[in-house]
Amino acid sequence: MTETEEKVVQAREVVESASNIVVLTGAGISSESGVPTFRGQEGLWQNYRPEELATPEAFWKDPKLVWEWYDWRRNAVKDAKPNPGHYALAELENNVPNLTLVTQNIDGLHQMAGSSNVTEMHGNLWQIRCTKCGDIEQNFDVPLAELPPKCKKCGEMGRPNVVWFGEMIEMSLIDKVLKAIEECHVMLIIGTSGVVEPAASMGLVAKQTDKTVIEINPEETPSSGLYDIVIREKSGEILPLLFTSNRTLS
Ligand code: OAD
Ligand code: ZN
Repeated sequence: MTETEEKVVQAREVVESASNIVVLTGAGISSESGVPTFRGQEGLWQNYRPEELATPEAFWKDPKLVWEWYDWRRNAVKDAKPNPGHYALAELENNVPNLTLVTQNIDGLHQMAGSSNVTEMHGNLWQIRCTKCGDIEQNFDVPLAELPPKCKKCGEMGRPNVVWFGEMIEMSLIDKVLKAIEECHVMLIIGTSGVVEPAASMGLVAKQTDKTVIEINPEETPSSGLYDIVIREKSGEILPLLFTSNRTLS
């Protein structure tokens, strides 16, 4: 057996014996669906870094520019289909008594794959929130007819219903995730570079409370060294080996 095969066997045993699992995903799980990640070569959009555009300051300085970026991202996601990694996690939901799926992604692909209980930490790309009255509109138009879009109720400017740098994630949501981590047996951390808080610290919380943590990511992350099993492969290739009935190693 190769080293990866050994780790997959090990991870599968851990997952099979757990009745309470927390899964945290990041942009990497959608990269095999063709959705660009934020960091790394393919993550760049016209030489802006996400930290320069995903902020309230950037938005109020130049709403059109920020909306152009979101319009581009909506376009990049609109034809994307879930990949075997998303589907394997959706299947896992049916086979584990307690599964909490937490994602930093705003692309909606977990739901499209059939996961019914998804905690979206950073909001959703397909929702527009009014900057004045707070009304939330589901909108799947690509490209958007007007940038920035206007609220259908009051006519004021809309913004993406996402969490930006410098903005708070609802405390109740963070509490819910931390509680789930405290109660779980195993945590899977998939396709996240582990540099954006609070998600970045969640694996550390799991380790502090003696949980088994499995990371799946082709690249090393700042916390890789702390985790119990680290599989340096693509999630779309590994996750189906961990959970589906098709569990033969290639
Ligand atoms: P990043 O783009 O920072 O990291 C993507 C990670 O996925 C990297 O560590 C890659 O090595 C890994 N990766 C790439 N292909 C993969 C594959 N096929 N299978 C598994 N892993 C793969 O994305 P996030 O960590 O999700 O926030 O970024 C966190 C947050 O930063 C985002 O939610 C967004 C961004 O700014 C906001 O917009 C608030
Ligand atoms: Zn409004």
